Parts: sequence; structure tokens; C-alpha cells
Amino acid sequence: MKKILVTGGLGYIGSHTAVELLQKEFEVIIIDNLSNSTINVLEGITNITKKPPTFERLDLREKAQVEDFFLRNKDISGIIHFAASKAVGESVENPLLYYENNVNTLIYLLQECKAHSIPNFIFSSSCTVYGEPDSLPITENAPIKAAMSPYGNTKQISEEIIADLCAVHPEMNAIALRYFNPIGAHHSAEIGELPLGVPQNLVPFITQTAAGIRKELSVFGNDYPTPDGSCVRDYIHVVDLAKAHVIALQRLLSGKNESNLEIFNVGTGRGSSVMEVVHAFEKVTKQKLNYKFVGRRPGDVVSVYADTQKANDVLGWKAEKSMEDALSSSWKWEKKIRNIES
Ligand code: NAD
Ligand code: UD1
Repeated sequence: MKKILVTGGLGYIGSHTAVELLQKEFEVIIIDNLSNSTINVLEGITNITKKPPTFERLDLREKAQVEDFFLRNKDISGIIHFAASKAVGESVENPLLYYENNVNTLIYLLQECKAHSIPNFIFSSSCTVYGEPDSLPITENAPIKAAMSPYGNTKQISEEIIADLCAVHPEMNAIALRYFNPIGAHHSAEIGELPLGVPQNLVPFITQTAAGIRKELSVFGNDYPTPDGSCVRDYIHVVDLAKAHVIALQRLLSGKNESNLEIFNVGTGRGSSVMEVVHAFEKVTKQKLNYKFVGRRPGDVVSVYADTQKANDVLGWKAEKSMEDALSSSWKWEKKIRNIES
């Protein structure tokens, strides 16, 4: 069994990916510092898979500890690197935290890849690198625009660091996956998204409003040049996204990659407006959601959704789950963690 290091593996996307890996032929070792997750996630992963992953509580900013970890784990075949800070607003308030946590940790990990000849590396990038697209759907060749936040900048810089390393180390193989908007939870409701404090993202805000924790959803803008005036995004089920990581990893492990750095959009290819998400949620849960229209949120792009042809044809991956599946799993998860009876 190949041993895969999943950094940030107790977080939202990492935990769903750990499940998919454990359900295939992989042994999983998770590193997480619990800065944005809880240890209970480990139990959720184990309940689903009946195979407990190995876990090390470790802060990847501690270079000496990272070195020590790799000295103790010389049999790692690949790394999926999720660990990072991801709140856009917080990154504006505290840019150095973001550059340290998202860029330094990447460098330390890549140094260990070099030192221990670990050739396979998958990186969590984001559609945020595209900024406001010139045309839609957006392909991987679209220009990278000036980042709108330090968070977005860390993703751009990280992709550049990986590209620079791959350019001079042909033995290194990396895939950067540019995620669109992940939503949903595992159908078992054993794991899901756990935002700390007031959620900034749409779906957790919707489910918390339905659960009575928030009074109403503020829809940021109804005067955009879109069919119903609200912004359009590409919402992808987190389980589909997790599966893309397993396929990307298998591609690297079997040497099927066409170059030593490949980049793929991971989305559904479908754009949905904020109001479409609201109405789909109401339909799935059969309840009215309290919402009001407010002004535009600074920094929001109008419309972005993925061209998924490269992921479909080259990676051999396609999103399979519907928006309704995703929203109903998010709601099931929210009800479970709030002890709401069905
Ligand atoms: P998350 O916050 O749920 O998970 C990240 C995990 O990493 C957390 O469990 C956190 O405790 C851990 N972590 C953070 N810093 C660490 C450190 N220094 N050492 C060890 N562990 C550390 O986030 P997520 O939504 O699962 O996102 C995973 C990755 O995907 C991130 O890199 C994020 O930027 C990227 N991404 C996320 C989205 C999204 O909408 N969720 C979209 C695009 C890209
Ligand atoms: C945000 C981040 C982006 C990150 C992505 C995935 C910003 C500017 N961008 O993107 O960098 O990659 O999350 O984590 O924060 N909305 C409301 N009301 C709300 C919350 C959201 O109307 O209470 C709207 C937003 O205006 C947007 C859509 O819902 O149109 C989705 O918002 P969100 O979930 O925050 O994701 P993004 O803005 O796409």
C-alpha cells in the first residue's frame, strides 16, 4: 500500500479526500495543526472508512518539526497539500500570517520532497488566480490577473514556486488543481464543513440561517449583469472534488502525466447564480429561507465558471453530483452538528 501524506487532512476538503484515499488502496498519514479543524474529524473519517488514518498534530510552519517528520517517515509516495489559511478578508487584515502559513509551509514541504526524493505532489490552488475572467467558461490558459487579496496572491505565488522547482527538477512531478466553489458534505454526515465564527461563504451561511443561527442571508448584489442580477459561480460537490485528487494522484503514481507540472480546473462547468442556489436549497429542504438583497461585496467577481474539458479529457475526471445532492448533504450535516431533528 502506498503511503500518502495529506496535509490539512482534518479540514473540509482534506477530510473528504482522506476518506476517498482510504477507500482505495492507500495508506493515509495526516498532518494538521487544528488551527481550523477539530480532532473529532478523525473519528468521522474512521467511522466512514473503518480504517483509522495515522495522525500527527504538527504545525507546518515549524521547519525543524517538518524535517523531523520526514526523517521518521521515509516511505511517503506522494503528498497532497491542503494545509493553508483560506479566509480572504482575514488575509487582507493580516497578510503576513497568510504569506507565512501558505508560502513558507509550501517551501518547507518541497524542500523535504527534494531531500527525500518524494516525486509526487498535489497542490490546492483556486479559481481565484483568474480574477475577473475575460471570457467564460474559463480555461486553464486564461491569463492570471493581479490578485485581489493576499490570500489569492499566495495561491499565485505558490503555483509559481512549484513551476520554478519543476522546471529544474525533472524528477519532480506536480499537479495543481484549481478548485471552483466546493460545497456539500459526505452523504453519511460524518464529516462536512465547519466554519469558525460567522461563515463568509454562501452555503454555510445558508444552512446556518435555515438552522436559526443567523437571522437572514444577505445576498450581495442583485444588479450584476447576470440573468437574475446575482453573481454566478461554479459550485462543486466536495466529494467530486475529493475524487479528483485521487485520480490526480493515481496519474502521477502511474507516470501518466504528460509534463511534470500539470494544471487542471476542478469545477462542474456550470454557472449558478446566488439566487439559483437559494431556490435550490428551498426546494431540497422544503422550507423558505430568510434573505434580503444588500449591496455588492467588495472584491467579488461577477461571474466565473470552469471549462472542464481538460479535466474531463486529460485527467479523466468529471463532476457527477448535482447541486441538489450537495445542498441536501450540507443541510443533513448542519442538522447533525446542531442536533436538529429531521
Ligand atoms: P480548511 O481550513 O477546512 O482546511 C485546512 C486545514 O489545514 C485545517 O484543518 C487547518 O487546521 C490546517 N492547517 C492550516 N495551517 C496549517 C499549518 N500551518 N500546519 C498544519 N495544518 C494547518 O480549508 P479547506 O476548505 O479544506 O481548503 C483546503 C485547501 O484548499 C486550502 O489550501 C485552500 O486554500 C484551498 N481552497 C479552498 C477552497 C474552498 O472554498 N474551501 C477553494 C479553493 C482552494
Ligand atoms: C470566495 C473567495 C475565493 C475563494 C472561494 C472559495 C472572496 C472574494 N473570494 O469566493 O478567493 O477561492 O471563496 O473558498 O471571498 N454570497 C452572498 N451572501 C453571503 C455569502 C456569499 O450573497 O453571505 C455570494 C457572494 O457574493 C458570491 C457567492 O455568494 O457571489 C459565493 O460566495 P463565496 O461562497 O464567498 O465564494 P466566492 O466569493 O466565489
